[in-house]
Amino acid sequence: MTNDLDDLVVTQVEPAIDDLNHGASSPKSFVSDYEDYDRVLGQGAVGIVRKAESVRTGIVCAVKVFRKCSLSDDDLERMRAEIRIHTGLSHPCIVPVHDVYESEDDVHLIMERLAGGEVFDRVAQRKQLAPELVAVVTVQLLRAVAYLHSRRILHRDITLQNIMYESQDGNNVKLIDLGHAVSLDDREALLNNCGTLGYIAPEILQEQPYDAVVDIWSVGICGFTMLTRKEPFSAATEATLHDKNKRGKVNYGPTFKKLPMQAQSFVRKLLTVDPKQRPNACSALSQPWVAQMVPEQVAAAQVELGQYGANSPPKAEYSSMPTLLRPTLPRWFRK
Ligand SMILES: Nc1ncnc2c1ncn2[C@@H]1O[C@H](COP(=O)(O)OP(=O)(O)OP(=O)(O)O)[C@@H](O)[C@H]1O
Ligand SMILES: [Mg+2]
Repeated sequence: MTNDLDDLVVTQVEPAIDDLNHGASSPKSFVSDYEDYDRVLGQGAVGIVRKAESVRTGIVCAVKVFRKCSLSDDDLERMRAEIRIHTGLSHPCIVPVHDVYESEDDVHLIMERLAGGEVFDRVAQRKQLAPELVAVVTVQLLRAVAYLHSRRILHRDITLQNIMYESQDGNNVKLIDLGHAVSLDDREALLNNCGTLGYIAPEILQEQPYDAVVDIWSVGICGFTMLTRKEPFSAATEATLHDKNKRGKVNYGPTFKKLPMQAQSFVRKLLTVDPKQRPNACSALSQPWVAQMVPEQVAAAQVELGQYGANSPPKAEYSSMPTLLRPTLPRWFRK
């Protein structure tokens, strides 16, 4: 356990007041700054996500609440990493963090509220998601992934539950839940087995050292599921699911085989079992299927990727983010 975390556990009421205050005369407090705080938007493994309205601006936000006393030391460490990584990000396809509050008992992570629900729910509710709409989601997802990878960050938990629509009637999506995100430079963490069974890249379950293309596998699983509305691994028990996922034995059944050939090739390419042969986010965006389905979005994405050099070795570090884009954080979130 680091000294920082010791501080967090033992002296919980000591947020870095200077940092949190924005120059005001008393420490900022979540309960004074937000109201209408009852409705639950989602329940995750470590935090509950609630709706709340800013007293000052009237803007409705989503607030991920971490109850510190109910978290283990490991969970606290993960929460700290999640917040540190998430607050350093700024991309149109990743939910932005507006602010972070810490009190004696809780940490509140204030994010943009995504009112359109999880992509998983839209896939489940509709009889079919038109291939164009699947491509629209996939391109946005690959943009988010290319951005993360250019900053040497892996998401490690890309699922249809962790992609949300901005609004009920639109098709803009954002990636959420940086709870498993990790730096590519953290060699130790890259041996950890984590993610959501069914979406995890085989090399993680095979306990091999892994890299950024684990996220591409998960994007492939999302694509498969959105296009077919079928489970990628047919398994009656969790043990069988684990085994098939570990071997990458995707069930390319009749529904999949009825898809246009280019869509099939796109999904198969992303679901290449050998990570060395699997495309990165840039080459996934160059696949004919997306280029044919949503040419304008793909062209814009290519320009965007070029702007931050997504294909070249990443140079951007957290400290290079413009200060204004970064919410102020309690000191213990920083490393
Ligand atoms: N910005 C948001 N706007 C609206 N709803 C959200 C937002 N962020 C999260 N949610 C909802 O809350 C759920 C849980 O959030 P999140 O995935 O971040 O929590 P978690 O504890 O990391 O979950 P898990 O690890 O179990 O996936 C999401 O699946 C989603 O339904
Ligand atoms: Mg989640």
